[in-house]
Amino acid sequence: MSTENRKQEHIELALMQQFQGPLTTLLEDVTLIHNALPNVSYEKIDTSVTFLGFKLSAPVIISGMTGGTGKAYELNKRLAQVAEEFRIALGVGSQRAMVEDPSLINTYRVVRDVAPSIPIISNIGFAQLKKLSLEQIENIVTSIEANALAVHLNPAQELVQPEGDKDFEDIINIIEMLEHRLKVPIIIKEVGNGLSKEVVEALYAIGIKIYDTAGAGGTNWVKIELMRAVKSGKTLTLHGEPFIVWGIPTAISICEARAVSNEIIVIGSGGIRTGVDIAKAIALGADLVGVAQPLLRSIMIDSGKEYISLLITQLKMAMALTGARSVEELKSIPVVVLGKLAQWICARKLRLRNIHAYIHCCINI
Ligand SMILES: Cc1cc2nc3c(=O)[nH]c(=O)nc-3n(C[C@H](O)[C@H](O)[C@H](O)COP(=O)(O)O)c2cc1C
Repeated sequence: MSTENRKQEHIELALMQQFQGPLTTLLEDVTLIHNALPNVSYEKIDTSVTFLGFKLSAPVIISGMTGGTGKAYELNKRLAQVAEEFRIALGVGSQRAMVEDPSLINTYRVVRDVAPSIPIISNIGFAQLKKLSLEQIENIVTSIEANALAVHLNPAQELVQPEGDKDFEDIINIIEMLEHRLKVPIIIKEVGNGLSKEVVEALYAIGIKIYDTAGAGGTNWVKIELMRAVKSGKTLTLHGEPFIVWGIPTAISICEARAVSNEIIVIGSGGIRTGVDIAKAIALGADLVGVAQPLLRSIMIDSGKEYISLLITQLKMAMALTGARSVEELKSIPVVVLGKLAQWICARKLRLRNIHAYIHCCINI
């Protein structure tokens, strides 16, 4: 199947609710302490942050999703209109399709044309890096005037995907070369199975500073690829089924990444659905969040602006109710962490950024 057709199938399946979860983000194990006497004025709450040299109105990135098909042109255009209006960051989907067929560049390029004043993030899969020259990768970035390149690590998806690339050896060396040679920073992201401390440590050691967790709890790419395998009559489904519940939930992945260094930028993503999720992710250790599937769903019914507006309103309400006047203050509000998330943090001895986080550790872990 061509990359273009695969991308179209991905969009259609990702829109269905049955491909969310079944693991949860574990943000439900995080409680922000209600402040009945907040010393704030709601109207003055400042949700702005700086990212890649741009001032954003809110700590939100539309995660990379699409490009490479006729429909994707229209979707990217609408996503870019929303992102530009709200001054939030925007990623495009894997640009592999435009490397294979340069006539598809405009399906990605449209985002820069429509959104000249926000950070745009290029995207390519780690398993494709071996097949591309430095010039081709530079072109991926420059052709859309991107401000960063997201390299997505998606080994679970590739293993289950009928036509997936399954050679993951020595890719870190290519990432290191790119980190030295590209003029824009690299963002390392997953696609729904989460980044661990060890992965972030290895990449931090070669100079990577930005990590997008894309943990489990939201869109489930193993499940989507299994469905595609079933439809195409492949037997891979039997092998892949146990991996539907594989991966690191988003809340855990935020803690895993943050434990490596306070110097890195952590984008909490995977199942972020409300402004309260955003507040929790940031209080736990993220700097910004990424949202994918719900935005695709909402722009399909022309309500992308309403959805972003809702996210920002809910974030502001959560900030008001915890007495946080800015995103910086949100990073150090009191937080209680219970349940599996607390047990994981203790078991892995993860050091959190927020010194006001109370972790309830069970003895029997
Ligand atoms: C339709 C669709 C296509 C996607 N394509 C890509 C892609 O090409 N590259 C990538 O890095 N992530 C891709 N993703 C993954 C998202 O960027 C995100 O990491 C993941 O869906 C988890 O976020 P969510 O739970 O908010 O959807 C895609 C997601 C969706 C919904």
